[in-house]
Amino acid sequence: MSTHLLNRTIFGDPKNAGNLMSIEDAHALLNEWVPNEKLRLHMKQVAANMKAWAIEKEGADEQTALKWELAGLLHDADWEKFPDQHCLIIIEELEKRNIDPDVIRCIASHGPKVFGIDPVSKMDKMIYAIDELSGFIHAAALIRPTRYEGLEVKSVLKRLKTPSFAAQVNRDDITDAILLIDSTLEELIQFIIDHQKEIS
Ligand SMILES: [Fe+2]
Ligand SMILES: [Fe+2]
Repeated sequence: MSTHLLNRTIFGDPKNAGNLMSIEDAHALLNEWVPNEKLRLHMKQVAANMKAWAIEKEGADEQTALKWELAGLLHDADWEKFPDQHCLIIIEELEKRNIDPDVIRCIASHGPKVFGIDPVSKMDKMIYAIDELSGFIHAAALIRPTRYEGLEVKSVLKRLKTPSFAAQVNRDDITDAILLIDSTLEELIQFIIDHQKEIS
């Protein structure tokens, strides 16, 4: 993906801390902005992983888990209609809706090399780590007759070492992101398999 640096340091307004939207409203936005079902599925999978990570690994309460889920669900919301302004358009929309800056900052950090925004919070770092890997694991599941059933970490690792498989997935981003988080690549692959396999 080409770079489109966001060139800004402020995301949202601190006075909107705690302002979230309902998950139903987020799905409505997604349905309106993203006609492509496969792309919507990618965002639902990232959302499921983010929410589960917040609850299981960070001990998040309901509001905090919703923040993580919203960031996951909306991170690529503008990609289909505004590929040249990817990330900026959804950021501006969420700012217009007075959404919590943490959610907006997290979305802005999902591609540090593309948008030029370094992940800072745990939520920022996890979206960076989960985004590419989630898509990669889904691609690895789709080529198997039994899909996620029986999909093992070692076969995902093997495919990661095969550059021609899902070539658009940037392996360097995955390696880079893992260094930022409290998990190994193997653990995160297993976590993602377990939490996105039922998402449709
Ligand atoms: Fe993206
Ligand atoms: Fe994504």
